[in-house]
Amino acid sequence: MVRRPFVAGNWKMYKTRNDAVALAKGVASKFATPDRVDVAVCPPSIYLDAVGQAIKGSSVALGGQNMYHTTFGAFTGEVNGEMLLDVGCKYVILGHSERRQFFGDTDEFVNRKVLAALKLGLLPIVCVGETLDQRKAGQTAKVVQTQFDGSLAGLTAEQMSQVVIAYEPVWAIGTGVKAEPRQAEEVHADLRKLIESRYNAQVASSVRIQYGGSVKADNAAEMFQQPNIDGALVGGASLEVESFLKIIEAAAAK
Ligand code: PGA
Repeated sequence: MVRRPFVAGNWKMYKTRNDAVALAKGVASKFATPDRVDVAVCPPSIYLDAVGQAIKGSSVALGGQNMYHTTFGAFTGEVNGEMLLDVGCKYVILGHSERRQFFGDTDEFVNRKVLAALKLGLLPIVCVGETLDQRKAGQTAKVVQTQFDGSLAGLTAEQMSQVVIAYEPVWAIGTGVKAEPRQAEEVHADLRKLIESRYNAQVASSVRIQYGGSVKADNAAEMFQQPNIDGALVGGASLEVESFLKIIEAAAAK
C-alpha cells in the first residue's frame, strides 16, 4: 500500500486575520504537487472561515486545531465538529500535547472527540508523544501505546483507516531539537505494529503517521526518507510560505 504523504501546518495561536489570509493564499498559490502530497493548514478557529475562503478552489485543505465532542449546546467558548465542517474543514487536530498539557485533554476526552469527528466525517489528526523525562526513563513505547489505546478506543477498522496519527515527542516541539530520523522511525514502526496488532495488516499499512516537532525546511527530507514517516505536522515552520513549501516539496519527493 502506497501512502500519500501528508503535511499539515499547525498555526497554533499565531497570526492576525490579514496575515492568516496572506499566508493561506501564498501557500495555495504556490503549492504545485497536489498529485504527490496532501496539504492542510490549521489556523486559529476564529480565522478558519477567512482562511477557508482564501484557499477555496485550491488543493490545500482546511483543518481545525481542536473541537468539542457534542452537538450544539450550552458550552461557552467551544466549537463543535458541525461548525468545523460548516466552514470547510476536512481535518481536525486532536490531542495535541499543548492541549494535553495546558487544557486538561486526557486520552479519554480525546477519544470522545475522535469518535465524534469520525461520525461527522471529519478526519482526525491524533497526536501522541512522550516527554523528555519519559524518554529518559525508557518509557517512550509504553507512553505512546497508552495514548494510542486510550485516544483511539472503540474505533472500527474502517474508522481507524481514516485516522492520521502524529507522533510528536513533546521535547521536540518548538524547541529546535528535532528527533533523530532513526529515533522517530523506531516509534513510527512501533506504532504501525501496534495498529496491526489491534486491527490488521491492511489497516496498519494504510494509516498515515506524521512526525511533528521542530520540522524545518532543511531537515524535513531526512525525516521523510524513513519508511514509516508519512509526512509532518509542522508548527513554527508553517507560519512562513517559503519554509512550509520547502517541507511540502520534500514530502512530495518521498
Ligand atoms: P513545531 O511544532 O514544528 O513548532 O515544533 C509542531 C507541533 O506542535 O505540531
